[in-house]
Amino acid sequence: MTETQVGATYEVRDMSLAPQGHLNIEWAENHMPVLLKIRDRFKKERPIENIRIGACLHVTKETAVLVRTWVAGGAEVHLCASNPLSSQDDVVAALAEQGIAVYAWREMDNEGYYRSLANVIKGSPQVTIDDGADVVSTLHKLKRGEAGSEIDIVKKTIGDRTDWIDNVWAGAEETTTGIQRLRAMAEDGALIYPILATNDTPTKWEFDNIWGTGQSTIDGIIRATADLIAGKVIVVAGYGHCGRGVALRAKGLGARRVIATEIQPHRALTATMEGIEVMPMKEAAEIGDIFVTATGCKDVITRTHMERMKDGAVLCNTGHFDAEVDVNGLRELAITQKRIRPHVDQYTLSDNRNLYLLGEGRLVNLAAAEGHPSEVMDLSFSDQALAVEYIVKNKESIITKGGKVINIPEEIDLQVATLKCEAMGIKLDKLTEEQYNYVTGWREGTG
Ligand code: NAI
Repeated sequence: MTETQVGATYEVRDMSLAPQGHLNIEWAENHMPVLLKIRDRFKKERPIENIRIGACLHVTKETAVLVRTWVAGGAEVHLCASNPLSSQDDVVAALAEQGIAVYAWREMDNEGYYRSLANVIKGSPQVTIDDGADVVSTLHKLKRGEAGSEIDIVKKTIGDRTDWIDNVWAGAEETTTGIQRLRAMAEDGALIYPILATNDTPTKWEFDNIWGTGQSTIDGIIRATADLIAGKVIVVAGYGHCGRGVALRAKGLGARRVIATEIQPHRALTATMEGIEVMPMKEAAEIGDIFVTATGCKDVITRTHMERMKDGAVLCNTGHFDAEVDVNGLRELAITQKRIRPHVDQYTLSDNRNLYLLGEGRLVNLAAAEGHPSEVMDLSFSDQALAVEYIVKNKESIITKGGKVINIPEEIDLQVATLKCEAMGIKLDKLTEEQYNYVTGWREGTG
């Protein structure tokens, strides 16, 4: 452990968990060769010296590897959790022991969540990193003088000062839902500073969302229920990047039938061509054994659907917010509710049917498992490490872009993909000069 940041405050569940946290981070590091390579360069070049980063991410072992990389580059990092159920307490303790200003613990309540966010804002970041746009939106709400219970919690920690956003140069966003929120803000002219769309860069979206969410969501379902996937009917709401990953993994594990629900014709066609049936949720509700939402939308599984479900149906969500399964509707429908095992709540309905909700309807892969495998986060977090360096090196030109959501430069994406291929021993062919001329030529005889 060489990357230290001294003198930070923190709020964690249990510092005695730190030794296991260090080991888990070491385990992740062993699977993240690209990020470590970037870290080695950062140590030598110190490209983000004295830069204050305010990050709101799932505090997992992989996030710890990213934080250590930023610190190796010279940055001061203030970190909070982007979901109340996703923090790994041992990892948080290890980061705190290392001197990182970290505010996160598993099963934090709303008060703790916004107090932690406030502590990150109090660090006065120049660069923000979000997974779901909570730091950005809280900074904007403060600036606009908005009221509300969550802002009240924030103000209890940071006082009445509202201009923290003035110190921010730019930010980066990790997930689809965050990008959607930020694009909507940008379109309305409400976004004050530029955000790099890390989520949208191919080395993130095409790997983390598909293969990371695909595997870790199934992992969460299996860890929570110990159920067999083979022979089951799996319903996946949303055949986007995440839903596709989940559906294809379920198919690979022998699911008898994999059904997708969709609102977009192209995505519905893709599912169909890939051997996944498409039908409305109302029909799927009656036949599914396991339901997974992956849409980024709300009220995808409602009380009306639950009323049609089979006894023993399992419900879970892997989209960003806990708004996809109508948990309140389920509570109202049930006559009794009990936690039957960790991450599994049994809801018994008046006709004695049981429905099982995993991870309280929050991201099941982070609530019941450990989030994405380190190998895939190697790509996403290499993008995030380099995004901060890019912001710092191009500060002036980025700031002048104002409130826009901007793409990560292709060179960064290509660099990460190339390094990952090298690390995995994947060798590529190279175009000869004649081939290059052939594919790029447009004149008669050459194109
Ligand atoms: P995407 O945009 O590729 O896919 C979403 C799909 O859902 C689209 O095809 C859309 O047509 C469909 N959809 C939207 N509303 C629907 C509805 N009411 N019923 C049926 N289909 C509907 O987005 P992506 O990247 O797959 O992300 C999905 C969600 O997963 C987002 O909230 C994202 O932030 C989250 N996410 C979660 C991760 C995790 O670790 N669990 C990792 C990455 C993203």
